Amino acid sequence: MNTKMSRRRFLKRGIGSLLTGIVAVGGGGFYAREIEPKLLTIKKHTITHPVIPNGFNGFKILQFSDTHIGFQYDLSQLKELVNKINSLEPDMILFTGDLMDTPNQYAEINSIAPILKNLHAPFGSFAIYGNHDHGGYGSDLYRNVMKEAGFTLLLNEAHQVSLLTNENLYIAGIDDAMLGRPDIQATLEGIPDDAYTILLSHAPDLADQAADIGNVQLQLSGHSHGGQIQIPFLGAIIKPPFAKKYYEGFYQIGQTTDPLTLYVNRGLGTTRLPFRFLSPPEITLFTLQTLQK
Ligand SMILES: [Fe+2]
Repeated sequence: MNTKMSRRRFLKRGIGSLLTGIVAVGGGGFYAREIEPKLLTIKKHTITHPVIPNGFNGFKILQFSDTHIGFQYDLSQLKELVNKINSLEPDMILFTGDLMDTPNQYAEINSIAPILKNLHAPFGSFAIYGNHDHGGYGSDLYRNVMKEAGFTLLLNEAHQVSLLTNENLYIAGIDDAMLGRPDIQATLEGIPDDAYTILLSHAPDLADQAADIGNVQLQLSGHSHGGQIQIPFLGAIIKPPFAKKYYEGFYQIGQTTDPLTLYVNRGLGTTRLPFRFLSPPEITLFTLQTLQK
């Protein structure tokens, strides 16, 4: 079985590298380098769950992720993004990590917060660490930018979102799996058992642990870039550690009666290779809806 699996994997890798090369240097190269990375798709989803309090019916949550500013993504794109997000009028904004590609080498770091500060969301803007936010001694740099931009950085902690009607839900954020110290258990401590909880984890594959620990209804992640380059019939070519299993869109994980819903956002920027192919940048607008029991 192992020989068969490794042979298949070897073939997939070989064909993948070959096709990636074709995309890069052939006719698809211009598209993959100049066109698709600059596209901005808006994915709209309704999230239905019986535990969502009635008062949160229609509550709009905007997720954006993985800008990797300084690699291929620039400040003019960031400005355009802020305008686009504001035009969708979200109630809350969530950033799921990897703001700059290499924080300690990005010369225009001081220009980021003044742009992000223009985002509007009445219930606040929240962020978590991605691996690139810790990399290159970036932890403090990233924290300072997000703080100046008006984001609440959730580092293994949860925030209660309350309505005037005394109805609540929780936004919990964990540290990055690759370069940080995520602690799901500690993060969820103190959240009432019957509350609706959204967990932010840069790394999607931590959803298995979150589903085991329980009490998380929705996990929002990034990190994978949807594979960045997808090849028809073969799927995503690049799957980083902690995005091997889950790399794009929705997954239902754990108990079939009450599963955790995971959503993996494809992100906005690129890293390592300045290409996107069949994996366009996205921002995601979730609308909450109570499901009557
Ligand atoms: Fe990333």
